[in-house]
Amino acid sequence: MKLFKSFVIISALILAVSGCKVEKPADTDGHDLWFHNLEKVSDATPAAYTTEAIARNEIDCYWKGSAAVEIKVLDKQDEALGRDGYRLVFSGKKVSVEANTAIGTLYGVYGLLRLQQTDALPKGSKTITEVPAYEYRAFNHWDNLNRSVERGYAGKSLWNWDELPDKVSPVYQEYARANASVGINATAINNVNANAQILTPEYLQKVKVLADIFRPYGLKVFLSLNFAAPKHIGGLDTSDPLDPKVVQFWKDKTAEIYALIPDFGGYLVKANSEGQSGPQDYGRTHADGANMLADALAPYGGVVFWRAFVYDAQAEDRAMQASDEFVPLDGQFRDNVLVQVKNGPIDFQPREPISPLFGQAPKTNLMLEVQITQEYLGHSKHMVYLHPLWKECLDTDTYEFGKGSTVAAVTEGKFRDNKLSAISGVTNIGDDANWCGHQMAQINWYAYGRMAWNPDLSSDEIADEWLRQTFSSDPKFLKPVKDMLNRSREVNVSYEMPLGLHHIMASNAHFGPGPWETSYRKDWSPQFYHKAGPDGVGFDRTVATGSGATAQYNEPLASTYENIDTCPENLLLWFHHVPWDYRMKDGKTLWDELCYTYQSGIEDAEEYIKIWEKAEPYVDNQRYQEVRTKLIRQAKDAMWWRDAVILYFQTFSNMPIPDDCYPAQHTLEELQQVGVFRRPQMPQGGARPQGAPQMPRQPRPEIYDMLPDYTLPGMPEL
Ligand code: GCU
Repeated sequence: MKLFKSFVIISALILAVSGCKVEKPADTDGHDLWFHNLEKVSDATPAAYTTEAIARNEIDCYWKGSAAVEIKVLDKQDEALGRDGYRLVFSGKKVSVEANTAIGTLYGVYGLLRLQQTDALPKGSKTITEVPAYEYRAFNHWDNLNRSVERGYAGKSLWNWDELPDKVSPVYQEYARANASVGINATAINNVNANAQILTPEYLQKVKVLADIFRPYGLKVFLSLNFAAPKHIGGLDTSDPLDPKVVQFWKDKTAEIYALIPDFGGYLVKANSEGQSGPQDYGRTHADGANMLADALAPYGGVVFWRAFVYDAQAEDRAMQASDEFVPLDGQFRDNVLVQVKNGPIDFQPREPISPLFGQAPKTNLMLEVQITQEYLGHSKHMVYLHPLWKECLDTDTYEFGKGSTVAAVTEGKFRDNKLSAISGVTNIGDDANWCGHQMAQINWYAYGRMAWNPDLSSDEIADEWLRQTFSSDPKFLKPVKDMLNRSREVNVSYEMPLGLHHIMASNAHFGPGPWETSYRKDWSPQFYHKAGPDGVGFDRTVATGSGATAQYNEPLASTYENIDTCPENLLLWFHHVPWDYRMKDGKTLWDELCYTYQSGIEDAEEYIKIWEKAEPYVDNQRYQEVRTKLIRQAKDAMWWRDAVILYFQTFSNMPIPDDCYPAQHTLEELQQVGVFRRPQMPQGGARPQGAPQMPRQPRPEIYDMLPDYTLPGMPEL
């Protein structure tokens, strides 16, 4: 026996020293998400399509521990756990999953399996209590009824409306399960640019089928509304929210929906924004519109998510408009209305300051909207882990109620009596085999759910969990890949829009650079946002000389942003118009700082390829190759961004690219010919000029093949 043991140890040592390859995992298309490493120990099927039976079945199929797992809905309600919270009680031979509700136990089951998969099960007796921070942890699908997805880069919409209600794809249940496993409990299934058709009896039958499938997984359906539905489908000649016929229309429609879907969540509304109809069409306010819908929903316990994403072409500074419109309405919204605010004041840019509205509406239920789909961060072509971006927003102090009034605390409802709280994320999901277009983009779905449950989790913790469950726990894989993910948002900022630059992407497709572009709407023109000229670059939003947006923040944020010396350099050009030779804190000129920041972004993107190549033994071939191909493309796109922005700005700065940065590989003229992304140059004005082409919001797949090619100087062997 002793001899055998020595043999095993020596063999292991030889293997370790010879660097023998780990066994290559079997190929996968990534469809199994973060359940990938969950090993089946039984083929049992649920006894019924109920939450209780599903919870039991997940344990029967996947729990590998020797301790028996008991799943218990508590007889006596435990207030501390609320509706969705759970407790895991580990005591020797038993694990008890306890909650007030069946759905609480299902979350507990997924929590327990997560601990198993991430090697985090407690060794001895221990009680773990988990309670979600937000009541509604919502998904927003921007899915159209024709199955296109606005700003979707992962194939078509999951919802096959032509086949529903008769034919039901197994993907609907897989989707609900994945959401439940990370705690997502609400889903607005159609685009905020809503087609009123969704409210017709024909479509509501289809929606009902989805709601029935989602229900045992605790996922409530919401619908995005077209505010003009009374006119579009109701046969009325108005959609005025104060008109009794309109009020009745919404009451009846709401009753019709609840008769089919008794746990219907409520309405998500984009009104008077980007051409959508709304109460202002009738001289009414956002509060008038939201309250009318809230009153229709109140008898059933439904809620309204009313979006604050509003701006119009005439304003001097788009960044100020949500506050300008919503602050005067503070205190006027019904209790069951939440005002849904994007993280930044413009639109999901790689970096924005927080929306000032988070600190300006103390009597309004505010909720955060983040974007999981990478509209401005490289679509599903680039690997960008978004949690650091969202976390930066959640952790920012608004100072509204004194120090500690972070966006997280404000939106969790810590400072108001009404405890209704919610968070929402615009999904990155489609019918691609791997759901998200990029294998690594699955982390953003996962991270969104985990963040909505617990905003205190760090990016590193979430990345660690996801990688262990989805790829490998081997430290040789885990550490470098996790580091790469953790840095990836900052790297994206560096090669796309560093130092507070924003909205300088190519129009419409929102992919690739377009700093030279103008539009018939000034607030869609990159030039409006960077304001580059011989005197410098950046948008002056100071009170002293600019738009005055800094004054929308509470102190000390307002003066910190107002003063160029205290403004964080990563937001410098957001708040200030800065001369090219301005001295940065490290002594470099602004121009050099820009050049070196782009350079570092490119080098980091090149480095990804090397890190991934080292991770190859731990990843199945299919996912390995898919990711590698995309990383090469990402590094080339980083070069493209740098060439375009720096060569264009150089026409104003007349300063050289430093010698130790990569030389440009294309001329500005060549890059400006990348016509597929070019919006026709049109005179600036309010409306689309007659005959001007309507540009598609979706990039056609072939345009990705028409981008300028690059060699990667840091990767000579490629
Ligand atoms: C962005 C995006 C649009 C979307 C809008 C919104 O502007 O480009 O496609 O409709 O946001 O959030 O409503």
